[in-house]
Amino acid sequence: MRWLVPLAASLSLVACSGAADWGDGKQSTIRPETDSARVVQDVYSLVTWIDIGIFIVVAALLLFAIIRYRARPGQEEQIPAQVHGNAMLEVVWTIIPAVLLIFIAVPTWSAIFRAHEPPAENAFTVQAVGHQWWWEFRYEEQGFVTANEMVIPVGRPVIVDTGSVDVIHAFWVPRLSGKIDSVPGRTNTLWFTPEQTGTYYGQCAEFCGTSHANMRFQVHVVTQEEFDAWAARQQQPPVPQSDDAREGQQLFVTKTCVACHAISGNPVAVGVLGPNLTNLPERKTLGSGIIENTPEELVRWIRETQSIKPGALMGVATADGYQPIDMTDAEARKLAAYLLSPPGEAPAAATDSGAAAAMAPAGGKSAEQIIAEKACIGCHVIPGVPGAVGTVGPSLAGLMSRDKIAAGLLDNTEENLRKWLADPRAIKANTLMVTPPLSPEEVDTLVEFLMDLK
Ligand code: CUA
Repeated sequence: MRWLVPLAASLSLVACSGAADWGDGKQSTIRPETDSARVVQDVYSLVTWIDIGIFIVVAALLLFAIIRYRARPGQEEQIPAQVHGNAMLEVVWTIIPAVLLIFIAVPTWSAIFRAHEPPAENAFTVQAVGHQWWWEFRYEEQGFVTANEMVIPVGRPVIVDTGSVDVIHAFWVPRLSGKIDSVPGRTNTLWFTPEQTGTYYGQCAEFCGTSHANMRFQVHVVTQEEFDAWAARQQQPPVPQSDDAREGQQLFVTKTCVACHAISGNPVAVGVLGPNLTNLPERKTLGSGIIENTPEELVRWIRETQSIKPGALMGVATADGYQPIDMTDAEARKLAAYLLSPPGEAPAAATDSGAAAAMAPAGGKSAEQIIAEKACIGCHVIPGVPGAVGTVGPSLAGLMSRDKIAAGLLDNTEENLRKWLADPRAIKANTLMVTPPLSPEEVDTLVEFLMDLK
């Protein structure tokens, strides 16, 4: 039993490859499928074979000594002849490990140098930004952003520049490359050349908080033509196909989803705290690789985020963590219908949609209406505005009693308030405050309202 229990325990751990669709060797480090993964694998194999050789020699010598020099009956009290020092032996067992270390060091160095020099020719760059607990993929050259599922063309070297907005994460797709830390305020780089089309499975590989284990992602390797078509769809808004979906588009604003989520072509959805939701129907999974992407699962995700992904920073922040945004099942269904609408050019009939209405000139709109439409309520507590209970940004209660705004960067004057509202990022480069486009009339109305917050 003393042997069997640990043996059975370790064998059962071998089966720990997570959810069924992530198992089956999909994250095997010993099944490399790119140039870079193979270089790592070669070093790994070499070291493993050398280690096996050392183990056999050492174990054989040990067994020989145990058997050959064991105490025989009648010798229990006897002490064998004592020797001290053997220059020859000591030289040999210093030189052998030194030679072995050279055999390991040379290929290791060459692999490290190779990893540090991404190919310049025909390379393709994607930025992978870690967030608690999901991945943002930025395609700067093509001008769009997506989340949790990275799509890349086959046969071209891909350079992954990785960083983080909060804590340290690590980008790891075992069959495509080694792992690399995603560190806030710093860019780390790895690269590889995908050789076959298909889906590869990745995982955050640095403990980063409650849902670290739920921070998965996929890499879809496709042909260049498929990639170009996908990239075009990444810049098109969802086009609602039903009344439910059209209502969902308005709920996306009024339920303040737009404060955290961006959607290409939806002028008020410009949030940067949560995943970009453009072209959601094409993603295979939701919640950073946790559940399948179907309309039913999307509704469940919206309604029961915390039970699916403990600690997820989605919904309304409260003292007891995040709670789902208050909405009915029917509303969640409409929201899902909008998010899963096929991308395309917005038809002329959609001009009466929520987004278009929100873009209309302020003409007589109250500050409260603008604040609700522009989703300020998603991030700020604002006295006198129902639903403005957000805790992501500063509370605006008593704003006018403060000397400074924007965390001390600007004096609190009417003119500065106007500047800050019009373009926060021009004043504070990495601020999480984003404002949808505001007309000059809307800025006037908002400033007038804010100046009254004594
Ligand atoms: Cu992110 Cu672990």
